[in-house]
This record gives sequence, structure tokens and C-alpha cells, in this order.
Amino acid sequence: MFDFAPDTGLATPERYRQMRDAALALTDGESDTIANMANLAALMAEFLPDLNWAGFYRVSGRELVLGPFIGRPACIRIPVGQGVCGAAAESGKTQLVEDVHAFPGHIACDAASRSELVVPIVRDGEVIAVIDLDSPVQARFTQEDAAGLEALATAIAERV
Ligand code: SME
Repeated sequence: MFDFAPDTGLATPERYRQMRDAALALTDGESDTIANMANLAALMAEFLPDLNWAGFYRVSGRELVLGPFIGRPACIRIPVGQGVCGAAAESGKTQLVEDVHAFPGHIACDAASRSELVVPIVRDGEVIAVIDLDSPVQARFTQEDAAGLEALATAIAERV
């Protein structure tokens, strides 16, 4: 049994540090992309409060294709360049959106979502996938969340 759980009352940077350590332990020695993404989605949902969706989209040609996630059923294919995920994949840059209703082209998969954080996963200079977090709370994500999720993306880039 895996029993990774954050300590209570953690400051955000320490919470992400513990989550990254757990992610590396959980994926150690395993090379299957789907298995690792599935466990990582579950880990993010356990470690990070106030989320309604946590998971992955994988780059396939000029599209993003839905990967393992925790949350409501979601859009399956997103063209690179569209929506928050597509913007992250196209630019290779983190997208921190405080109010999804104010983001031109935001793709609503769950009407409850109010804010979103998307971080690209880069391997050998190419964006191979993105990590997507959604929250029903407006402005849920800060620069500390962005930095923590970027560190996770770097840590797991060779394991997904
Ligand atoms: N809102 C995203 C689409 C994916 S769902 O949130 C799971 C976007 O605009 O790219």
C-alpha cells in the first residue's frame, strides 16, 4: 500500500517539496507513462487543496490528448494553441489564470472551474505533455504554486 499524505498545515513551498519527493518515490523504477501519470494525478489531488480537476494532457502532433486525471470527464482533444492547456503547450510556458472567464478561448470542461494552472512538461527540448490543475476558487493559484508545479514537471519529465 502506498500511503503518501502531506503533513497538516504546511506552507505551500514545503507542500510541493513533499509532493515532489512522493512523486519520485511513487514512480521510481516504473517506466509506464499511463501508470505513472495516473498515480501522479491521484497524488496531486491528495496533496493540493481546493481542486476540482488534476491531471495530464499529452502532446500528439498538433493536438493535446486527454491523459490520466482526477475530476469530472473532460474534453478529449485540444488543438495546440487553444485554451489554457493549448497556450502552455504552444508557448512552453506556465499559464496561471486567476479567472478563467477572463481568459480568451478558455475551454470549459467543468462549469465549476474558476481558476487554472497549466505547466508544460519538457523533455529533450520538446513539450511532451502538460499538467493541468483546475479550482472552483477564483485566484486559487499563486506564483508559489506555479514554481512548485514546475519543479514537479521537471522532476517527472523522464518518467512520463
Ligand atoms: N480548461 C482547459 C481545458 C482542460 S480542462 O480544464 C480539464 C483549457 O482551457 O485548456
